[in-house]
Amino acid sequence: MNHHNLISRLPKAELHLHIEGTLEPELMFALARRNAVELPFDSVEEVRAAYRFDNLQSFLDIYYQGADVLITEQDFYDLTWAYVMKCREQNVIHAEIFFDPQTHTGRGVPFETVIGGIHRALDDAGRRFGMTTGLILCFLRHLSEAEAFETLEMAMPYRDRIVGVGLDSSEKGHPPAKFERVFRRALDLGLRTVAHAGEEGPPEYIREALDRLGVSRIDHGVRCEEDDELVARLAEEQMPLTVCPLSNVALKVFDDLADHNLKRLLDRGLRVTVNSDDPSYFGGYVNENLAAVQAALDLDRDDIVRLVKNGFKASFLPRDKIEDCLDRVDRAVSGCEPSDLAD
Ligand code: HPA
Ligand code: ZN
Repeated sequence: MNHHNLISRLPKAELHLHIEGTLEPELMFALARRNAVELPFDSVEEVRAAYRFDNLQSFLDIYYQGADVLITEQDFYDLTWAYVMKCREQNVIHAEIFFDPQTHTGRGVPFETVIGGIHRALDDAGRRFGMTTGLILCFLRHLSEAEAFETLEMAMPYRDRIVGVGLDSSEKGHPPAKFERVFRRALDLGLRTVAHAGEEGPPEYIREALDRLGVSRIDHGVRCEEDDELVARLAEEQMPLTVCPLSNVALKVFDDLADHNLKRLLDRGLRVTVNSDDPSYFGGYVNENLAAVQAALDLDRDDIVRLVKNGFKASFLPRDKIEDCLDRVDRAVSGCEPSDLAD
């Protein structure tokens, strides 16, 4: 049984989405033209053909290069607005969005330009569609602690526009502990913290993120499965994992979607959520991720509803808003045709 109708009809939350990773090749070309930036590609087809990765680093190299076309406040607005339009198509009603300011400030684009354009689009999405959103500032972990502190300082005039801080980029060799002090400062400022951990890095990095960064969620976290005690702890604490199935296959964290551990982790009681990471690069937004794991791992209707509900439970929405969203999911399930619901 496939559950595409159910998947597309359910209201959903997205919690692991890099806004720079939503840059579709068509928009990349349009912005390159607008800003007179040279691209190393001649066509959209050539860009898509370049999206074959061996590991996280081979992806990051091309992802940072793609971001070079983003220069003005309007560019960041257009990028974010295109994602908002996808959310409308996909029935994503709440999104907590990562952005990587250092990718831009490092090329001379002011912090204010970046956050200004992104925030204006999210503001419009809220006013026009009632979509709720949060922004999470990610530190690039291959850069230094001092640079992370400088970035947090730049964000201070915009403190009320972000819900939290995160940690992304090259994981191996850059353990969470490297950023313990900057995360401490963020926590003191009342920000939430999350971190990519256990994508390519070892289970020990997940423990470090929990114990030293005070995280509210683990981004990816799939390598927890190598450590039974850690899995038991994640289940006990109901610590959310923001899993990104198509990303994991594209970056060869798993050879094949059929090998993915999402269903095993869900069955062990972990608060697993499904997300798209960098949808333009990895072949799909949330609905495509859900449909792909549903087919590859033979998920039933209850699994899908659990995954979708987990997305809201793991969000930074206030308690009463979470309850409203869970009710909306229940109502959407009851409104589905019997043929959408059969197992
Ligand atoms: N991992 C680390 N850094 C990233 C990712 C990811 O999946 N996507 C964008 N930056
Ligand atoms: Zn990510």
